[in-house]
Amino acid sequence: MNASSVGTDRPTARSRALFELAGEHLAGGVGSGTRSPRAGWKPHPLFVDHASGSRVIDVDGNEYIDYQMGQGPLILGHRPRAVIDAVTRTISERGSMFALCHDLEGQAAAAIAERVPSMELVRLGNSGTEVVSYALRFARAFTARTTVLRFEGQYHGWSDGIHWSAHPTLEEAGPLGRLSITPSSSGIPPQLSETLIVAPWNDTDALERIFAERGSEIAAAITEPIMGNGGGLMPAPGYLERLRELTTEHGALLIFDEVLTGFRVAPGGAQELLGIRPDLTTLAKTLGAGFPVAAFGGRREIMEMAVDGRTMHGGTYNSSPLACAAVIAALHESGKPGFYDELLARGRRLADGLAALAQAHGLPACWTGVGSMFQLWFGDPPPTDYRSAQRLVQSSPFPAFFEEMLRRKVLLQPPQEGLFLISGAHTDEDIAWTLVLAEEAMPAVADAVREGRVGPTGGVR
Ligand SMILES: Cc1ncc(COP(=O)(O)O)c(C=O)c1O
Repeated sequence: MNASSVGTDRPTARSRALFELAGEHLAGGVGSGTRSPRAGWKPHPLFVDHASGSRVIDVDGNEYIDYQMGQGPLILGHRPRAVIDAVTRTISERGSMFALCHDLEGQAAAAIAERVPSMELVRLGNSGTEVVSYALRFARAFTARTTVLRFEGQYHGWSDGIHWSAHPTLEEAGPLGRLSITPSSSGIPPQLSETLIVAPWNDTDALERIFAERGSEIAAAITEPIMGNGGGLMPAPGYLERLRELTTEHGALLIFDEVLTGFRVAPGGAQELLGIRPDLTTLAKTLGAGFPVAAFGGRREIMEMAVDGRTMHGGTYNSSPLACAAVIAALHESGKPGFYDELLARGRRLADGLAALAQAHGLPACWTGVGSMFQLWFGDPPPTDYRSAQRLVQSSPFPAFFEEMLRRKVLLQPPQEGLFLISGAHTDEDIAWTLVLAEEAMPAVADAVREGRVGPTGGVR
């Protein structure tokens, strides 16, 4: 195969015109900050006409191989037939929402609990942010404590209570021994910092210190078990095991935020892959394979606090028939034999191939994550926490790689600390073609390094 046969011409006039038009009434012309020029979509975002399988087609007729997969949910690809059919049948024959009980709620909860046994009881919601907020509330209610331990660089949604130290500059973040707790948006009440402890991730000594000093105050430690926000950073051997032990010893709960890793890295999420059982888990993204639905759940005695109303959980749109039909169909599809083996192997082939191509062009390279969710780094050794990732980001030619791949119609997340997200719809041919295009792109990436055109693409959020 020869990539030059497709050329690198990418007309975008219609996207530009729609962006300008949208900006007349839609703030910034985008529906979320991650889609903005500020986040790396320069000079303007592309506007999608439609999508199918592994492909996105923009309004100018460019067809891209998509590796950003809706920022994670599209584990079955775009418009998966079985899920679309189940949802459209449900809403046309029964209704889209009742805010009343129906049979699909229990079925969706059972399908989740079967795949994630630590989620003995489940409640559904609509977004990752929402279910994380609820998990924190339930943890605080159950332990009758207030303080939550979170980790620098992780993202748990945008709510005031937890959106702290998610993407601080290294100056803001403070020295390693004395991390500052920094709000990740203006408008967050500063008093909420008193409810949090921020720790560096993958640092067992820091954990030991924090629990020795403040263990009796901690309601819960919340962590992404694999740090997807940060580039798929893996926990060091023994790290999460020690976190599990320390939380148990000190009467705190362990919350795994599996909004990104759930039903993506293994049939039962990161907790299955890593063999650790948290007290509470949050899920969203892949749960509905593209429909807006989320869940939290865990130990029976914690979730039972919702049963007698001690701890409030509600929501008009919770577990609508639309959302439940999506969950049941999505989990059925990804539960088919061999789904994860193939998905992970295909992604690993791409990750290995990309790192080898970069190295062949004289660039230091490695990858982090697992096959279905990984990042290529122009550096070595692989980052292990927010700070080591940020050091690589500062000297990375990733913006040039992103741009060269986009010109060749491969859609990536713009930041170096983003992710390649693979779906069951990506084929062996997609992977092979992507590697052909990446080989063509690498000389320009090597030039960017020589010319010092390196650094961050834009904010992650
Ligand atoms: C680990 C994690 N938690 C929570 C969230 C927030 O989810 P949502 O965007 O559905 O509110 C995200 C979103 O990227 C996430 O990656």
